[in-house]
Amino acid sequence: LKKVGVLTSGGDAPGMNAAIRSVVRSCIFYGIEPVAIHEGYKGLIDNDLEIMNARSVANIINQGGTFLKSARCQEFRTPEGRAAAYENAKAAGLDGLVVIGGDGSFTGAMLLEKEHGLPCIGVPGTIDNDIFGTDFTIGYDTALNTVVEAIDKIRDTATSHNRLFLIEVMGRDAGFIALNAGIAAGAEEILIPEDQKPIDQLMDSLENSGRAGKTSSIVVVSEGDKSGGVFELSRAVEENFPAYEVKVTVLGHIQRGGKPSCYDRVLASRLGVASVEALRDGISGVMVGVRDQKIVQTPLEEAISKHNAIDSNLLKVADIVTV
Ligand code: F6P
Repeated sequence: LKKVGVLTSGGDAPGMNAAIRSVVRSCIFYGIEPVAIHEGYKGLIDNDLEIMNARSVANIINQGGTFLKSARCQEFRTPEGRAAAYENAKAAGLDGLVVIGGDGSFTGAMLLEKEHGLPCIGVPGTIDNDIFGTDFTIGYDTALNTVVEAIDKIRDTATSHNRLFLIEVMGRDAGFIALNAGIAAGAEEILIPEDQKPIDQLMDSLENSGRAGKTSSIVVVSEGDKSGGVFELSRAVEENFPAYEVKVTVLGHIQRGGKPSCYDRVLASRLGVASVEALRDGISGVMVGVRDQKIVQTPLEEAISKHNAIDSNLLKVADIVTV
């Protein structure tokens, strides 16, 4: 193994920089030349490559986003796009590629390897935590802390005005952010796609909250929830409870930014090393992840097609502590 490329692709996540740094420095440690690819797969198609050294990744472990930039590249979804990307990888002498991203990025890596034989390793980087084959994805812990901090602030004003807030959080089709941040922020109700509740249940719960003496409420709604979205829900709640003053907050992209947490920096550092070591061992077509604190490898195909289940115990905890 002589030259390894690294790129970040899909939605950015805090800790991606720490992962790039780790890949680059692992390469140097093992005598491999690291090559950075700018703007994800787009950079591979446009031949936007840069040879790295240990100092190229200095002072980035604490920074959010990705200094290589990221993109959701439509062209790479076509066989022609992947062929063009492979030609550039071959010309640059890359004999391995580390892709830091989510399931869309891993689909690209899998196809690139299948069609052209370039060994690829996936590193899970997404705030959604929706990747099979790892207990945690890089960026998830930081996003949770950002969401909890934001909800704490909203609670201050909700309490001061006796208001009910519907707060939409990210996570795509997965409710991990909503459930965990909802519990941590003391939400009265948490709506997630994995445990889709009828809207009547939300109304009953709000009614009970009122009877229990609560004067304000926080309802965390995962963006993947199928009750019609926060604004629709807000209208429904107002109709049922004309006395309530309902407000909607969509947290949006604030959840993707900020300094990575200690956990995300350590996770990114571990997975970066594991990705280069896998390539050195002649392994490819897998994603590196952590299960029960240990590094594990999962075929990219499985990482893409399977899903981590929501912990039913956590759902129970949420129900118990929100009465
Ligand atoms: O996958 C990360 C994520 O932030 C999701 O939670 C969200 O649905 C999506 O990306 C938003 O994508 P974009 O930044 O392209 O609007």
